[in-house]
Amino acid sequence: MKKKTVLDIMELYDSNQKITMLTAYDYVMASILDEAGTDILLVGDTMGMVVYGQKTTLRVTLEDSIRHTQAVARGAKSAMVVGDLPFGTFQVSREEAIRNSIKLIQLGNAEAIKLEGGSERISAIEGILDAGIPVMGHLGLTPQSIHKFGGFKVQGRSEETAKKLIEEARVLEEAGIFSLVLEAIPWEVAKNITEAVSIPTIGIGAGPHCSGQVLVTYDMLGYFDFKAKFVKRYADLKKHILSAVQEYNREVREESFPDLSYSYEMPK
Ligand code: KIV
Repeated sequence: MKKKTVLDIMELYDSNQKITMLTAYDYVMASILDEAGTDILLVGDTMGMVVYGQKTTLRVTLEDSIRHTQAVARGAKSAMVVGDLPFGTFQVSREEAIRNSIKLIQLGNAEAIKLEGGSERISAIEGILDAGIPVMGHLGLTPQSIHKFGGFKVQGRSEETAKKLIEEARVLEEAGIFSLVLEAIPWEVAKNITEAVSIPTIGIGAGPHCSGQVLVTYDMLGYFDFKAKFVKRYADLKKHILSAVQEYNREVREESFPDLSYSYEMPK
């Protein structure tokens, strides 16, 4: 099976086909999302919340990101794998950002990295690109800045902040990012940004006019209780798992599982 690269993503964009991206954190889920034909698997730092039960994404480490990216990369036969630079791994210096991006590629097996932020990250982005690593940007509600925002709040709702987002998107495009995540902004602003740049925008809570969409897989499968306005539940996995596990617990307790059909016997 042919592995998708930045060139394939650009080809989808150039031919006006929507790009699909989902988050993945482990091998089995990555294999399923890959088999379903997803274009990009993002090993997002949302792992802090959905895998590790933390309240924010801020405690995820580079080692967490590398370990989960390795697992996802093993399952991604066709999808492109993007590793997320966690909080604290790219803000301190350009050198650290380059070194940590190289680790995500070399040790994690990612094929591109994503980092949050706008013009304040240009020096780091240029350095990472100079190292030969494709960069995905991320604007809007960037969860690594929630303390600055005062919580998980929709961004770009005033004329001034909407204008700033468009400017930032242009600056990121000029720096050379290959695509841009837009998170939790009004759809009109996302549409304006998508029209203002010549790289794919990938929306989450940013309306239908982006070049592609991303959701946190556990949210869209109904595996995690979180339900924001922008999350469509395509399945109700929690309900199915609950009923399967309740049935298992009952059958073990009442001794109907395992019967002999699930048991080995001595050779005759
Ligand atoms: O970390 C993540 O999963 C993300 C997506 C929500 C875009 O950044």
